[in-house]
Amino acid sequence: MKLVSAKEMLTKAKEGHYAVGHFNLNNMESIRAFLLAAQETRSPIILGVSGGTAKYMGGYRTIADTVQGFMDFLQITVPVALHVDHGTYEEALDAIENGFSSVMFDGSKYSISENIEKTKEVVSRAHAKGISVEAEVGAIGGEEDGVIAMGECADPAECERIASLGIDFLAAGIGNIHGKYPANWKGLNFDVLARIQEKTGALPLVLHGGSGIPADMVRKAITLGVSKVNVNTECQIAFTEATKQYFAEGKDQLSKGFTPRAMLAPGLEATKRVCIEKMELFGSLGKAD
Ligand code: 13P
Repeated sequence: MKLVSAKEMLTKAKEGHYAVGHFNLNNMESIRAFLLAAQETRSPIILGVSGGTAKYMGGYRTIADTVQGFMDFLQITVPVALHVDHGTYEEALDAIENGFSSVMFDGSKYSISENIEKTKEVVSRAHAKGISVEAEVGAIGGEEDGVIAMGECADPAECERIASLGIDFLAAGIGNIHGKYPANWKGLNFDVLARIQEKTGALPLVLHGGSGIPADMVRKAITLGVSKVNVNTECQIAFTEATKQYFAEGKDQLSKGFTPRAMLAPGLEATKRVCIEKMELFGSLGKAD
């Protein structure tokens, strides 16, 4: 199966009151882990690529060709979208020209008028090629240089303006942040989410910072219009913990235990396990059929 735009899978998710998981790629093991998790559970999936991952893994064209190559080799038959995560304007345009099937343009650092201008341009270039577009209003907080910024809440009126540009799905801050949530986190702001939902109608909404949000809050956000949930940190932690355990148990000292494929296998399995748990929570298992 070829990579697909995320529009159809998210429209179906919104109508069916579940969410599709977006999982960030970090290395080759993560490609294999997420594709196998989706295939085994018959779940649609979105693979996200940040600017950092794009640089690490050889650029958008290399990643698109690699993911498509894995899909062909593993005989993946569920819908998979390859998506730019928090792309700058330049990154979004680069990915559109280089094999991605979906892009996020994160214009939240700009004024709303500049965000609108740039989002419009990305929509027109992406849609000409059948590529779906995610826009963002209201910056999503998180840890930067050791300082954790609390998540902002998007202005529902600004969401309505961005939603009218023909985008396919919208990331709007509702107190969510990337990375680990601090002990004094106040939780998701469901009043703001309900107001955004009212202003944006059928448009699928995106919940970033999906790691560490209690399950009941995630379920409630889905009932209020969230159709895509982004997860990265929990998969990264699972990978690291499994790898640490491999060494702690001295498995690298066993015959051929030093080979990189052997030492990365537990991390791959742990990543796949977390991915399946999250997809179950989001309600997307079996939705590929
Ligand atoms: P977490 O790392 O908090 O799961 O957030 C991922 C994300 O939102 C990527 O855009």
